[in-house]
Amino acid sequence: MSEELPTLDPPERLLCGPGPTNVEPSVLEAMRKPMLGHLDPHLHDILLEVVEMLRRAWRMPDGLVLPLQCTGTAGMEAGLANLLEPGETAIVARAGYFGRRIAEIARRCGAEVIAVNADWGEAVPNERILQELDRHPRARLVAVVHAETSTGVEHPLGELAAELRGRDVLLMADCVTSLGGVELDAGAWGIDYAYSCTQKCLAAPPGMSPVAVSEAALERIRSRRTPPPFSFDLLLLEKYWIERPAAYHHTAPILSIYALHEALRLLLEEGLEARWARHSEAGGHLQRALKERGLELLADPQHQLAPLTAVRVPDGIDGKEVQGRLLHEHGIEVGGGLGPMAPAMWRIGLMGGNATIETADRVLAAFDAVLAPEADMATAT
Ligand SMILES: Cc1ncc(COP(=O)(O)O)c(C=O)c1O
Repeated sequence: MSEELPTLDPPERLLCGPGPTNVEPSVLEAMRKPMLGHLDPHLHDILLEVVEMLRRAWRMPDGLVLPLQCTGTAGMEAGLANLLEPGETAIVARAGYFGRRIAEIARRCGAEVIAVNADWGEAVPNERILQELDRHPRARLVAVVHAETSTGVEHPLGELAAELRGRDVLLMADCVTSLGGVELDAGAWGIDYAYSCTQKCLAAPPGMSPVAVSEAALERIRSRRTPPPFSFDLLLLEKYWIERPAAYHHTAPILSIYALHEALRLLLEEGLEARWARHSEAGGHLQRALKERGLELLADPQHQLAPLTAVRVPDGIDGKEVQGRLLHEHGIEVGGGLGPMAPAMWRIGLMGGNATIETADRVLAAFDAVLAPEADMATAT
């Protein structure tokens, strides 16, 4: 008798947390196309198409652009492991969970980390980063999070990049929640290493980390005293992704590459500016409506990020219970605070195909339904 094993049956969810977001149907369809081998010349043409579209998404005409086969965190680690060598100094803006993570990984790379901190909901002022650079003129790297998903804060990255122009330091930017959702011009701004991931505003499945690397950063990598970790060796990866004939480095995630190809095609077909405007409209609509309901947003309004809104949980309300009811009664996922230090919050993401007024209204209606009795209970006790 054959054993009865459960078949895969995940429920439908509207993914409006900090990511992953829902995947567009045509992106899922792309993953059903015929599987190719990683050394098939036809696949190598597809890789070049992905790189070309990614260049346009990053707006990075020069340098190296490719997607790493890894998470956003590993894209962060790849940048630090390539750009830093033990004993070098890195100035890291820490205004949330992911800024802290950059500092921690840089330390593990053997760097001396100068952390410039800001409270939850604030952006680290660029002047303070520049002051630290004046104090540590030999610093190799400045690292910031463009879109801090743990707080909903957008760092003024273009302004920082302009301030750093002409200075002998590399700029690394975490663009995990900004690529494809927020204005970003890696080439013109002068970002030396930008990394993102596929599951946020690009709205593809998680598992790949698109990166953009400037000529200056490549020069730096070529002149390292010690080679970077093999899996993150950008110069070896270039030989597979871009140079022809392609040289084997690892077995590429073929179906994830198809998904990214389609996600990038959708992004460019819509147009970058139109996509940014759509995220801005949807996020702005959600934020206004939340404030009208008397809810308080965590981020400094001057630096409010569009694709991610962090809302403080009002006193007397159990934030986790609300999250659970949104999920189980309404099929909507929203996030909570990230890490033990975070204040109580809900994190609402409107990313990719979910960056619409309709989706924002669906989330608001679900909050209204869940919070009405909660609010009654809070006032009754
Ligand atoms: C700003 C930011 N950086 C890095 C990461 C890490 O990405 P991953 O979870 O794919 O490792 C995330 C994930 O949410 C993020 O929001």
